[in-house]
Amino acid sequence: MERKWWHDAVVYQIYPRSFQDSNGDGIGDLQGIIQRLDYLEKLGVDVVWLSPVYRSPNDDNGYDISDYQDIMEEFGTMADMEELIAKAAQHGIRIVMDLVVNHSSDEHPWFIEAKKSKDNPYRDFYIWRDPVDGHEPNDLTASFGGSAWEFDATTGQYYLHFFSKKQPDLNWENPKLRQAVYDMMNFWIDKGIAGFRMDVIDMIGKKPDEKITVNGPLLHDYIKEMHAKTFGPKDLLTVGETWSANEQIALQYTKPSNHELSMVFQLFFTQLDQYPDKGKFFTRELNVAGIKEIFDRWQVALNEQSWNALVWENHDLPRAISEYGDEGAYRIESAKMLAIMLYMLKGVPYIYQGQEIGMTNCPISDVSQIDDIESINAYRELTQSGQMTKQEALDAINKKGRDNARTPMQWDTSANGGFTTGTPWLHVNPNYQTINVKAALEDQDSIFYTYQKLIQIRKQKPVVVYGDYQMLTQTAPEVYAYTRSYQGQTLLVVANLSAKPQMINLPQYGKQKALLSNYAQGIIDLKAKPLKPYEAFVIEIK
Ligand code: GLC
Ligand code: CA
Repeated sequence: MERKWWHDAVVYQIYPRSFQDSNGDGIGDLQGIIQRLDYLEKLGVDVVWLSPVYRSPNDDNGYDISDYQDIMEEFGTMADMEELIAKAAQHGIRIVMDLVVNHSSDEHPWFIEAKKSKDNPYRDFYIWRDPVDGHEPNDLTASFGGSAWEFDATTGQYYLHFFSKKQPDLNWENPKLRQAVYDMMNFWIDKGIAGFRMDVIDMIGKKPDEKITVNGPLLHDYIKEMHAKTFGPKDLLTVGETWSANEQIALQYTKPSNHELSMVFQLFFTQLDQYPDKGKFFTRELNVAGIKEIFDRWQVALNEQSWNALVWENHDLPRAISEYGDEGAYRIESAKMLAIMLYMLKGVPYIYQGQEIGMTNCPISDVSQIDDIESINAYRELTQSGQMTKQEALDAINKKGRDNARTPMQWDTSANGGFTTGTPWLHVNPNYQTINVKAALEDQDSIFYTYQKLIQIRKQKPVVVYGDYQMLTQTAPEVYAYTRSYQGQTLLVVANLSAKPQMINLPQYGKQKALLSNYAQGIIDLKAKPLKPYEAFVIEIK
């Protein structure tokens, strides 16, 4: 496989609204990110993926774009953006932009034009259908609740929106729309960005009349065309948000000979505490063993032919410690275990802001404290339909809601965790007094330094980047053990995914010293090694 610059890269996701406020208005901004580049360099990341910074009325916090070629006023100006790209480069960091082209904002000039009349030149940039018997064209629903169709009285037709009604879906069957998107992408490529994270890209091939929402018939043709007309010849990093991709579909997107994407996110693990046919807010006990089954399947399927994206957290998910580890007694151990387990696998690590200091979910006690449109709408639907009591709905949102990851970054113990001198747009997690960057940097044993070390090992040892992956099967279901091997080097990674003490028995590896671990270790005898709660280590087999 041809070598790419991003094969050994580590990506850090910034949710700009919550990262660092530089002017006291309570909202994170581009100058705030610039102020923190030293910190990101110290962590050792190579790429920053910025959640959307484009102009937006913020119905879905920037994922509803009204001008793809301008910057959200609250975040700064195009000059700030250019400064960020240039200053990040001085720190060895490249910028990847969020590409949100399944839909735009209803305040985008394209949509404002499109809804004027049926024969407007922009009409076909969106998806319009006549009413059927005075109703919606069919029963497709939107992710944020209600019908996916919204009636427009001016022209007497419905438009499609798979998210909020302020996020009308773009019509990818229209070549003019596609070209407009490619021109916009090239505008950003010319500004020197390093690639794109592609928002719900698996939906662009939709066939709403046939109720096909993801993996539509022309999806891969569109991506191939986008590749040819934009980033393909430029050697950029591209990553698809593809909730619907299994390993086979992932291969289709990422096999280099297919000329599509560098990698896609595997997000099935996020559903291990959900029911197959219910929404994300209905949860049951986490299937711990399922974690390793899923990662193993993807590692095996993509091992030779293409690349994985390794992710625990993002701005849509609960904090990993709260979901898969232990926020209480074993917060530090479980955070380090999750990092060791995931980031020694083959693929590009993605770290979400605050994950590297072990930030946790932030429970609320009243619906008025919610900002996220998905949770607000879910609360209303779940309680009004009688599916949940108010308290049950709040509990569900505290467990799975997106605001958990969106509370401001915790920098120090000053007011608002050092995020802002003003009033933060979203509450700061009160645990900032103990969980913050300053404390993490001062403690050589902190979660931060495990992340830093993992990144350093990846840079020093090609086996982490290129090594063959193999899972060891002679372990308890809650223990994930695997090897990576490359040109005579072998790494053994062991992680106890549970709070239960475990044993492993791998006599073939003898007695070894750990390269990295989350408990103090002497010589480890792999013949009969007891594992403490969430214990994890990496060994270089000698
Ligand atoms: C993606 C984004 C999410 C957004 C949605 C609609 O899933 O990650 O934040 O709400 O797409 O754009
Ligand atoms: Ca600000």
